[in-house]
Amino acid sequence: MRSSLVSAFSALLLLTPAYAQTKFTNDCTSFATTFVNDDTEVLSSTYVAKGAVISNPDSCLAAVTVRANMCRIKLKVTTSSTSRVIMEVWLPRNWENKGKRVLMTGNGAWGGCIPFADMAWASGLGFAAIGHDTGHVGNVATVFTDTEVWKDWVYRSLVVATQAGKAATNHFYETSLSKSYFIGCSTGGRQALKLAQDYPDEYDGIIAAAPAAYWPNLEVSEALYAFIVGTEGSPTFLSSAQWNAVDAATMAQCDGIDGVVDGVLENPMRCDFRPEALLCGPGQDWNSNGCLTATQVQTVKKMYSPLYGNKGRYILPGLVPGGDPIFGYFLKYGPSVGLAAQDFLRYVVYNDPTYSLRDQFTLDTADVIMDNDWFGAHSNKSDLSGLQASGHKLLLYHGLADPVVQPGVSYDYYSSVALNMSLPSSEMDSFFRFFPVSGMSHCAGGLGASYVGGPSQPAFFPGAIDNVPAGNSALSALVKWVEEGTGPETLRGYKLGPTGDVLAQKDHCKYPLKTTYKGRGDPTKRGNWECT
Ligand SMILES: *[C@@H]1O[C@H](CO)[C@@H](O)[C@H](O)[C@H]1NC(C)=O
Ligand SMILES: *[C@@H]1O[C@H](CO)[C@@H](O)[C@H](O)[C@H]1NC(C)=O
Repeated sequence: MRSSLVSAFSALLLLTPAYAQTKFTNDCTSFATTFVNDDTEVLSSTYVAKGAVISNPDSCLAAVTVRANMCRIKLKVTTSSTSRVIMEVWLPRNWENKGKRVLMTGNGAWGGCIPFADMAWASGLGFAAIGHDTGHVGNVATVFTDTEVWKDWVYRSLVVATQAGKAATNHFYETSLSKSYFIGCSTGGRQALKLAQDYPDEYDGIIAAAPAAYWPNLEVSEALYAFIVGTEGSPTFLSSAQWNAVDAATMAQCDGIDGVVDGVLENPMRCDFRPEALLCGPGQDWNSNGCLTATQVQTVKKMYSPLYGNKGRYILPGLVPGGDPIFGYFLKYGPSVGLAAQDFLRYVVYNDPTYSLRDQFTLDTADVIMDNDWFGAHSNKSDLSGLQASGHKLLLYHGLADPVVQPGVSYDYYSSVALNMSLPSSEMDSFFRFFPVSGMSHCAGGLGASYVGGPSQPAFFPGAIDNVPAGNSALSALVKWVEEGTGPETLRGYKLGPTGDVLAQKDHCKYPLKTTYKGRGDPTKRGNWECT
């Protein structure tokens, strides 16, 4: 009698909010003593309240504000005798009634930074969020002289973080997760394709944004751009002001092709840009006339043309006109172009920190780079039958004003899958959809309706998460596709002002349909565009 009263009382107690909160906090604090997983060490487990600020160490990104009461777990997974992956799992209190979903977020560039901003966004939406450092600290390539660390960057960090992150989630909540998602842009987009190609069973839904696929070819293209652009002050070189003039000329020639003069090329592939329009006449120069020399015009033409190597070997598509030259200047059009490729050559290819791109690189070097597998860094397998068979979904998008990863990379990849699997787009649609996004720079930014609610975007657009309906995001479109079976026909894009205010909207159409102005009405209203 007495004991049944006690247990009835305990049962009631279990239902109280205070008890549930205490249990959550205690489970979090004691996580290290209860979680056992191969090669995994729990470095810390701490309860963190919504609103707390977490600083991003190791000179990675800015501090982020936590958007959910959660258990923050930090893990170290040993991947070899000389390598390890540091990862975090953010487990929100509000999880079971939010669909029991897990989401891993991808990295940028050389990795080395845990993507806290995306993790804060995802955990705020009720996902258990997983993020990792790709196997080393900081956005640097010097660590890749250890091939184990390079291997982690290419794919192994993804595999171990997926395994440990899911195990930690299931253990903590004492139940099985329901659906798992991966989202990533740039290097994260490459990681997304790697997962779709080689580990199609791991994630129910994947977003690959502006993927740095064909990675070795991208490195070659960086190297070639360094020679095309030349060093600062050389005849081939254009200053940032001159690139801005190129952009203005691009808009003058091509902005109206889509029916609207708004600073955004809806389809830059239709812009047959002639930089010759900027050529200096006799006796003219940049300072007095704002014109370019014939040599500089050649530079511009080469940057916007496909790249070929020895014996006409295709390397990659060209950059697109009407990109984001201000941002691109740092990486592709200015004095620092080629530095990433030089790091790749120094620390991955030759293990020689004195290697000089400008003095040593030739088209034979390009062949060496493209012919090697580098543990699968190409991430370009065009056979997605594993993904198709699993029923899992891949949503690809790419900004059409991307000056970092040529948008043509995504068109090439989409086409290679169609050709390999011999499928028309209507049949690819069941597992793989591609959305070109006009006016979007690399992952975020640009003059168009470029906030789509995808990876790497929350950090870039202040206020976006709070001002734009979460239900219209690319992430939400992916969840609907996976869980309700309704794949997106368009991606809703928002052009946001400095405080997150909405200036324009557009529904970006699924390839191969084109986002087309209806010919009348306010072009900032999405209803005045259609898919044709
Ligand atoms: C992937 O890239 C490698 C190296 O460039 C190339 O040999 C291979 O044909 C590519 N595979 C596909 C499917 O495009
Ligand atoms: C498709 O890709 C697979 C795996 O990479 C390859 O073995 C096969 O030959 C390719 N098929 C076609 C038709 O290209």
